[in-house]
Amino acid sequence: MTGKSLGTVVVTGGAGFIGCALSQMLAPLAERWIAVDSLNPRVHASPERPAQLHEAATLVVGDIRDASVWRRVVSDVPPEVVIHLAAETDTGLSLNAVTRFSDVNATGTAIMLDAFGEADILPSHLLVASTRAVYGEGQWREQSTGHVFTPGQRTHGQLARGQWDFPGATPMASASSDTAVRPTSIYGATKFAQESMMSAWAGGRGVPFTALRLQNVYGRGQSLINPYTGILPLFAQAAARGQAIDVYEDGLMSRDFVHIDDVARAFADAVGHPPDVSRVTDIGCGRPATVLEVARLVADVVGGPMPRVSGRFRDGDVRHAWCSTDQAADTLGWRPEVPWETGIAEYARWVLESAEARG
Ligand SMILES: NC(=O)c1ccc[n+]([C@@H]2O[C@H](COP(=O)([O-])OP(=O)(O)OC[C@H]3O[C@@H](n4cnc5c(N)ncnc54)[C@H](O)[C@@H]3O)[C@@H](O)[C@H]2O)c1
Repeated sequence: MTGKSLGTVVVTGGAGFIGCALSQMLAPLAERWIAVDSLNPRVHASPERPAQLHEAATLVVGDIRDASVWRRVVSDVPPEVVIHLAAETDTGLSLNAVTRFSDVNATGTAIMLDAFGEADILPSHLLVASTRAVYGEGQWREQSTGHVFTPGQRTHGQLARGQWDFPGATPMASASSDTAVRPTSIYGATKFAQESMMSAWAGGRGVPFTALRLQNVYGRGQSLINPYTGILPLFAQAAARGQAIDVYEDGLMSRDFVHIDDVARAFADAVGHPPDVSRVTDIGCGRPATVLEVARLVADVVGGPMPRVSGRFRDGDVRHAWCSTDQAADTLGWRPEVPWETGIAEYARWVLESAEARG
């Protein structure tokens, strides 16, 4: 993409971590870049405009559940591209906040879509940041028979006995083309509701639709005040305070850590190549890292004590999660470029610098 090749782009949650990174890459290419964001205090340390939001972006401070905000946003120039990022995001917290997660993630999406319908707006492309949480435990293969199955949720009793894996079975990479959707968290369930509603709304109107199912995104600029952004900020801040990182289960659960620059580029590629109808693609680094490996790396970079494997666990946590990047390569021409080892080391140094700067 070159010059002002994008028209009016509306980004909900556009002042958040991914929204700001995306603005740095794409806002200069848009006629108008409008970030609609409530500046949720759980995410934003101050109610000020984030410094990372590109200067070309217009920030509309408002809640996506407020229809009057949408009337204000669409009354002027109808959006051509809509990127839906606003969401309640914590997996663990969501189990005890069903109404809130459902309200923001599902009802908020419905109010946005109705606002477009009422104003007779047909964007040329609708995109959503979906998540690997829609897969829950994903697919596993029985070692004796090769049979592939979707195990569902690990029970509290199973975890209390320290039975972390599904016996006799090996986990598989997720791929939207063949992994069943079976969320084990309210977050995952409401994100799938978001994705499904947007897909149905767009499909019924012939609007191209893209869902990028993101793995664990990390990088500079991630909120350090929000304790629910994932394990990396918690690990890095604990190590920076000189505490041993508490690693749950046996430390061998795995995750796919994808760098923010790769994620922003995936959105840029998706915006630049709208599908004919609909496209759902996984975005990750494509290689699993065990949580213990990551904790050791962070402790090493930050100079903290070695992590401690505690055997504690959280109900609803999945055991292994990583994705295949083949489909993204085929449909978007996108491949991850930042290996988790170098990306996380750089990220841990940034957290340490931020902690030192705060004193
Ligand atoms: N970061 C990840 O690891 C990850 C992984 C998978 C999917 N995602 C998805 O990507 C999207 C963006 O995530 P992020 O990491 O940038 O999170 P973030 O919390 O940094 O950004 C979300 C933004 O949405 C805003 N927001 C929340 N509720 C709102 C509401 N009701 N009205 C208007 N704005 C509201 C917040 O103020 C925040 O600025 C989310 O939809 C999330 O589900 C993120």
